[in-house]
Amino acid sequence: MTTLGTPLSPTATRVMLLGSGELGKEVLIALQRLGVETIAVDRYENAPGQQVAHHARTIAMSDPAQLKALIEAEKPQLVVPEIEAIATPMLQQLEEAGTVRVIPTARAARLTMDREGIRRLAAETLGLPTSPYAFCDSLAELQTAIDGGIGYPCIVKPVMSSSGKGQSKIDGPADVQKAWDYAMAGGRVSHGRVIVEGFIDFDYEITLLTVRALAAGGAVQTQFCEPIGHVQVSGDYVESWQPHPMSPVALEKAQRIAQAVTADLGGQGLFGVELFVKGEAVWFSEVSPRPHDTGMVTMTTQWQNEFELHARAILGLPVDTTLKSPGASAVIYGGMDAQGIVFDGVDHALQVPGSDVRLFGKPESFVKRRMGVALARAGDVETARRNAKEAASRVKPRAA
Ligand SMILES: Nc1ncnc2c1ncn2[C@@H]1O[C@H](COP(=O)(O)OP(=O)(O)OP(=O)(O)O)[C@@H](O)[C@H]1O
Ligand SMILES: [Mg+2]
Repeated sequence: MTTLGTPLSPTATRVMLLGSGELGKEVLIALQRLGVETIAVDRYENAPGQQVAHHARTIAMSDPAQLKALIEAEKPQLVVPEIEAIATPMLQQLEEAGTVRVIPTARAARLTMDREGIRRLAAETLGLPTSPYAFCDSLAELQTAIDGGIGYPCIVKPVMSSSGKGQSKIDGPADVQKAWDYAMAGGRVSHGRVIVEGFIDFDYEITLLTVRALAAGGAVQTQFCEPIGHVQVSGDYVESWQPHPMSPVALEKAQRIAQAVTADLGGQGLFGVELFVKGEAVWFSEVSPRPHDTGMVTMTTQWQNEFELHARAILGLPVDTTLKSPGASAVIYGGMDAQGIVFDGVDHALQVPGSDVRLFGKPESFVKRRMGVALARAGDVETARRNAKEAASRVKPRAA
């Protein structure tokens, strides 16, 4: 049985979000609706999630000492990582000591913060189909890996990076040096290790949101949302839609892969499993043990969006992954480097049929920073995509 308390009282159910960006903000809102007491942590003040939580804390989450001190001071029952750049070995220590429960597990947070951990697990331990890959610590090793079988074209990524940072495609020998230099400049921690992956010439890619939640009786049950299609530009998502049509064979393979990887990572919560599909072949790409940026579309397409599903699953509550309507999302970028920007044309955007807009409230804009998202639902995905892009284009960020 799940028992929830009263926030700001001794009975409170306390949940700490590590990372309070736009995805964390929505998880926090979902938790607030269930009367959970929330602590929003980020590395800068006034992060989106900090604006909707009971408590806001600002620390360097990659610093083990700061992370430990905060968790010990706040004593949350659950710690929910929302980003990858966290001192995950410390989370593992605290979990092992019984200080706190990490969502979905501290091991999942550790394995997925590093491309090497999750890739070796998926391909070598679980035997799932992935692109061919190698890990390299120098330009010479990269060249050897390419010549030794990865071939051209291929993709180079820092092992610790997200949103396409430091990632580039190599079409031939002339690009290798450039890709190496770019990866060295773009990694999160500059320890100089990269993954090189053979390029998969997929027909389309999807995110399969997969939820591990307790069923009646208390056993974990795995449920899937409808596949989400998306477009990435330089490794960053710009547009997503749901449902993405798939052949029954490809869908079954996708679900089997998602089931296997999420079962191994364990715990309770929602996962974003990224897959490439060509005909009926399906490759595992990567997995987030938390809501996925492309899954923001579920704020308009599902009865319970991915954030509500995550909140429910981690609290031991039942979930419903049913689609409500086809729909789409389109990213609104800042388009400039400035603080406290304004957004013209939100009224104009909302005149698009079936549309909605989320502005994240980030204090500072960068040219390529995601500041908001436009959503649209419609009778079919094509119309929804057109309308979401139209609505996004009508929101005009401007320096104040
Ligand atoms: N081996 C590959 N073959 C073809 N395309 C690829 C390959 N690896 C990555 N891509 C493309 O680049 C995108 C980003 O790659 P990946 O998901 O590994 O990086 P990321 O930095 O973790 O991105 P994000 O954080 O946005 O998920 C993929 O969604 C896909 O479009
Ligand atoms: Mg990805």
